[in-house]
Amino acid sequence: SFPLTITAVQSALFNCISEGAKPQKIYLSDALKDHAEYWLKEYRLETFDVEALRDKELYLPPKSLEMPILQMLKKLHERSQIEHSNFPVSALIETESGYYAGVNIENRDWDRGLCAERVALSKALSYGVTSFRALHLHARDGDFSSPCGSCRQVLLEHMPRKPVNLYHRDGSKSEFFTSDLLPYSFRSSSLQKNN
Ligand code: THU
Repeated sequence: SFPLTITAVQSALFNCISEGAKPQKIYLSDALKDHAEYWLKEYRLETFDVEALRDKELYLPPKSLEMPILQMLKKLHERSQIEHSNFPVSALIETESGYYAGVNIENRDWDRGLCAERVALSKALSYGVTSFRALHLHARDGDFSSPCGSCRQVLLEHMPRKPVNLYHRDGSKSEFFTSDLLPYSFRSSSLQKNN
């Protein structure tokens, strides 16, 4: 609806990191090569042409949980990259057949970081998954785990009227709907009237 765009390169890297892996090689289309310079240096990536992946199966299916949700959310904090804030956050996007995980990932450049919610959502979307049941969110610190304004906008657009379960530090839980978290919101659907 407005520029909250997560670039393909950032999404691919954060997808990898939030799975607990270390990015080493990146496969880029020509269109992306000019935009990737910061990331190539930052993660010392070896670059290849995306054509090399033409016949590869890249789909990552949603995962089933081997433990209760809150325990999983706490475990995911180990993957947060929090060099600036020391404030780990984790998110699980629930789909009909399992979960996609996200953690917050900060960078040398603060404005190139992303919240856990958007890491989880961009991961699911990049594998073509667009049907979601709920979001589960936990911050280790702070009194109330709660999505930031940018995440609220993105969540509302991709999973309208779905439950957002917030797991707080003291063990209590709140449940809202994405639509309740952003009243009177800007809707991308209003843009269509101008076309
Ligand atoms: N953060 C999240 O990941 N989700 C939220 O809902 C709030 C904030 C992260 C972003 C940054 O890495 C750190 O928490 C402090 O703002």
